[in-house]
Amino acid sequence: MAISTRSGAAAPVYTDGVVRAFALASVIYGIVGMLVGVIVASQLAWPELINGIPWLSYGRLRPLHTNAVIFAFGGCALFATSYHVVQRTCQTQLFMPGLAWFTFLGWNLVIVLAVITLPLGLTSGKEYAELEWPIDILIAVTWVAYAVVFFGTVGIRKIRHIYVANWFFGAFIIAVALLHIVNSAAIPVSLTKSYSAYAGVQDAMVQWWYGHNAVGFFLTAGFLGMMYYYIPKQAERPVYSYRLSIVHFWALIFTYMWAGPHHLHYTALPDWTQSVGMIFSLILLAPSWGGMINGIMTLSGAWHKLRDDPILKFLIVSLSFYGMSTFEGPMMSIKTVNALSHYTDWTVGHVHSGALGWVGLVSIGSLYHLIPRMFGRKQMFSMRAVELHFWVATIGIVLYIAAMWIAGVMQGLMWRATNPDGTLVYSFVESVKATYPFYVIRVLGGLLYLSGMVIMGWNVLKTVAAGKAEPIAIPAPAHA
Ligand code: HEM
Ligand code: HEM
Repeated sequence: MAISTRSGAAAPVYTDGVVRAFALASVIYGIVGMLVGVIVASQLAWPELINGIPWLSYGRLRPLHTNAVIFAFGGCALFATSYHVVQRTCQTQLFMPGLAWFTFLGWNLVIVLAVITLPLGLTSGKEYAELEWPIDILIAVTWVAYAVVFFGTVGIRKIRHIYVANWFFGAFIIAVALLHIVNSAAIPVSLTKSYSAYAGVQDAMVQWWYGHNAVGFFLTAGFLGMMYYYIPKQAERPVYSYRLSIVHFWALIFTYMWAGPHHLHYTALPDWTQSVGMIFSLILLAPSWGGMINGIMTLSGAWHKLRDDPILKFLIVSLSFYGMSTFEGPMMSIKTVNALSHYTDWTVGHVHSGALGWVGLVSIGSLYHLIPRMFGRKQMFSMRAVELHFWVATIGIVLYIAAMWIAGVMQGLMWRATNPDGTLVYSFVESVKATYPFYVIRVLGGLLYLSGMVIMGWNVLKTVAAGKAEPIAIPAPAHA
């Protein structure tokens, strides 16, 4: 099927069905994953909340939460936006649309299998890589199909230049394939049980090489791809510095790969390896902030838009949280600081300033830009609801992370306090009791963030019901 562009040349209609499906799935999984987040947060505040049901116990629901928010909510947002962006910036249809639908089915099957196996207690025990080996194989197959569709589309592009957002999406796809395949190498002993192919400290190092780069590539590079397309589009301004975006790309992907050992300070890992991890983490501040500044400065000359446009608020505030967590991360990687922060809720606060503030807000902002366009409407059904969502979510984040920072520093100081005779000033349980009010504040913050997602769910439903999907002619690329 072909339609005409302004120049009169026939152009293909975009393959948007799969974009719509992933976008809607992301909103649904966001609500579910954050609901599980609120449940586990409540279990920490009131441990007897769900007693006696093993598959709803904290240890099983926690990995369900992390998998649901990172891979289901975040993953579907990444699939939707990368398929949307690559078509617009390459001015062509998706390569092998059937295979793109296969990635939708494959990824959703992975999610369904995670929802079944994690509560049953079937886990490889590796954080963010808990799923057992048959599911790992399905992930690998789906991911290779994703790579074929994405790079195939870049390969059949109608314009010479490859827009920078595609570089970030491309790096995310390649790195995640590499990380997943290496870290998931295991020896199966049954259909539901396997043992890691690595042992001892090597296993730990491979795991945190994976874990940290899951942050760098899954939770960062892909979302930077979103940032480089949707902020210029929503602000109707070109990227502040295209040259900086290229430096940002190479510096970021080179540096992330070496920072993993900061998760293993003061362990059996050789000391020099820990120091290398620390140094690369400190260097990482520079490309991270370069990217943040590039995104925020894209608004220069159009700051007034921030006052009236709630979607821009989501996108720009997400970058502020990105800057905050990428300042905090390098500080926490300094060994003496890590001696205080490790094992405490400070880490959880850092995680969620990145997860709720950066990943959450940039995804939500991008989806608010994308969804109405995908369903033949100019904007969301209710822009006031978008504004409300923004404030509810932001207040929720502040409550969550401030509570965890205070709790974390308090725990660290209580655990290390000693009397002149060398005995501990506080027992462990005293630190747990002192944390209680902060856990309750976290539940409140989480509830606010979740309510924002529910408002979004309603707004999306209304938008989809009111609009009708129509083929849209190919516009000029974002950087033109
Ligand atoms: C309503 C929103 C949310 C709530 C209430 C919530 C709550 C929680 C809780 C209670 C934990 C366990 C902390 C612990 O073990 O001490 C946790 C862990 C985690 N959550 Fe969330 N969460 C939310 C949203 C998100 C989102 C959107 C993401 C990612 C995009 C995310 C990523 C994570 C990660 C990576 C961990 C593991 C942290 C670690 O091991 O240090 N969460 N969350
Ligand atoms: C310059 C960038 C960053 C650096 C150098 C960094 C560094 C760190 C450090 C030192 C820790 C604590 C490790 C420990 O004591 O166990 C940590 C934990 C973590 N960070 Fe970051 N961080 C950065 C950015 C981010 C961002 C943007 C996100 C989320 C989007 C994030 C997500 C996480 C997660 C999920 C953990 C917890 C891992 C776990 O123990 O389960 N980080 N990070």
